[in-house]
Amino acid sequence: MAFDVAQFRSETPGVAHRVHLNNAGAGLMPQPVLDAVVGHLRREAEIGGYEAAGEAAPRLDGVYDSVARLLGAGRDEIALTENATVAWQLAFYAMAFQPGDRILTARAEYAANYVAFLQVARRTGAVIEVVPDDGDGMLDPEALERMIDGRVRLIAITWVPTNGGLRNPAAAVGEIARRHGVTYLLDACQAVGQMPTRVDDLRCDVLTATGRKFLRGPRGTGFLYVRRDLLRRLEPPMLDHFAAPWVAADRYELRPDARRFETWENSYATRLGLGRAVDYALDIGLDRIEARCRALSARLRDCATA
Ligand SMILES: Cc1ncc(COP(=O)(O)O)c(C=O)c1O
Repeated sequence: MAFDVAQFRSETPGVAHRVHLNNAGAGLMPQPVLDAVVGHLRREAEIGGYEAAGEAAPRLDGVYDSVARLLGAGRDEIALTENATVAWQLAFYAMAFQPGDRILTARAEYAANYVAFLQVARRTGAVIEVVPDDGDGMLDPEALERMIDGRVRLIAITWVPTNGGLRNPAAAVGEIARRHGVTYLLDACQAVGQMPTRVDDLRCDVLTATGRKFLRGPRGTGFLYVRRDLLRRLEPPMLDHFAAPWVAADRYELRPDARRFETWENSYATRLGLGRAVDYALDIGLDRIEARCRALSARLRDCATA
């Protein structure tokens, strides 16, 4: 797809009548995303929800391929969720902590994540420690390196915090985590859709994101990536018969893939919208989207300082 801003605008119904800058809240959906959601809802009304899901099965299945392509991951490493918070919680609450285990995080951590740290620290005796920043708010990788010891169980940071325009050095953190064998959970909620998000470059074990912000998908969508070798060791905090088929009266078997973090019932219309939004961003190219975001934000900063 050519980088044609006029075309993108013409495909975005919302820009016809307003200036909308709240992508960090929820971006304006492009028409193909809207069509995917509304089209599926219409089919549910026409032929029934189960029948519509059957008819759309190949496209629904393809959503995992799209998200996997976006992240440079395997489709077996992707779970679809109703938002980023649920994705993050499912992975975090699956991790086991002992008294004295250390959870390292950044100064600008997302509030919901920090509340979960507090609850788990209270329950388990784990301790939360904030890695010093570089003076401008950005996590200092050298300070992180100095904090690592055998009690660090988890590094969990937010790549791009909700407010303020900060961008934490997610890949540098991943390099340190990998070298020391520490699990690395990355909240990429505000980064996905705005810049390339390749899990191998980031070296994260878990990544969580939402659909509705810079990806421009519908509200009520999110996803979870769990690296394959960690996946085998993580049992979700809650299970149903989709995540873990009930195979004998006294036994269930966990699904081998990341869909062990899902449940049986889902919003298929919004899932299709998420898949379409991911494909739309991939067709444009995340490198080109990032270059455009950088150019616009630089222009804005120049105006602010002029
Ligand atoms: C950095 C960050 N993490 C997580 C979330 C939560 O995302 P969701 O509302 O999809 O659960 C947000 C939402 O604003 C966010 O900005």
